[in-house]
Amino acid sequence: MRVVLLGSGRGSNAEAILNAQREGRLGRAQVVALFCDQPEARMLELGPRFGVPAQFIDPAPFRTKLEGPGEERFIAAIRAAQADLVVLAGFMRVIKPAFLAAFAGRIINLHPSLLPSFPGLDGIGQAFRHGVKVTGCTVHEVNATVDGGRILDQEAVRIEDSDTIDTLAARIHAAEHRLLPAVIARLSARQP
Ligand code: GAR
Repeated sequence: MRVVLLGSGRGSNAEAILNAQREGRLGRAQVVALFCDQPEARMLELGPRFGVPAQFIDPAPFRTKLEGPGEERFIAAIRAAQADLVVLAGFMRVIKPAFLAAFAGRIINLHPSLLPSFPGLDGIGQAFRHGVKVTGCTVHEVNATVDGGRILDQEAVRIEDSDTIDTLAARIHAAEHRLLPAVIARLSARQP
């Protein structure tokens, strides 16, 4: 199963996936490219480290969504990589219908809350400020509703009274780094 990772920043989840692959924990999945919508993103440094092509793709003209010429550039690059699965690992843009149609049923997203609670931006901060006692992370299929597709798996994280947003975020990220590679490995077992 050929996997393409899309991200926007730090790339810690992309790194966790690449480490899983290196350690033989990614099943029959193989990361074939990293694509990023930010030219300075740390995620791009993972390419040379792991020997995987990593590329900035200009997402213009929009700031928060992927539509129009930028969307076409992403679609072309993912097609050229012959991806079976597109993983949004910290990709901070709303996906629009042309991209969804190009990779129908083959796009998954990672979100830092227990969906359907706290969709959208800053899922960690939303949960912390709301005062819930349990939050976590979710991997789900991507459809036209933001953070609304079928849930594939989740990991819960308790919020302790002593938590700050930073200590909570660290535990959620650790959970994400376990959850997302495990889901990809599981999906690869179903690939014909
Ligand atoms: C992750 O926490 C991921 O859940 C979140 O961005 C972070 C990316 O971290 N995604 C979203 O909020 C999507 N709406 P990373 O760049 O270190 O992998």
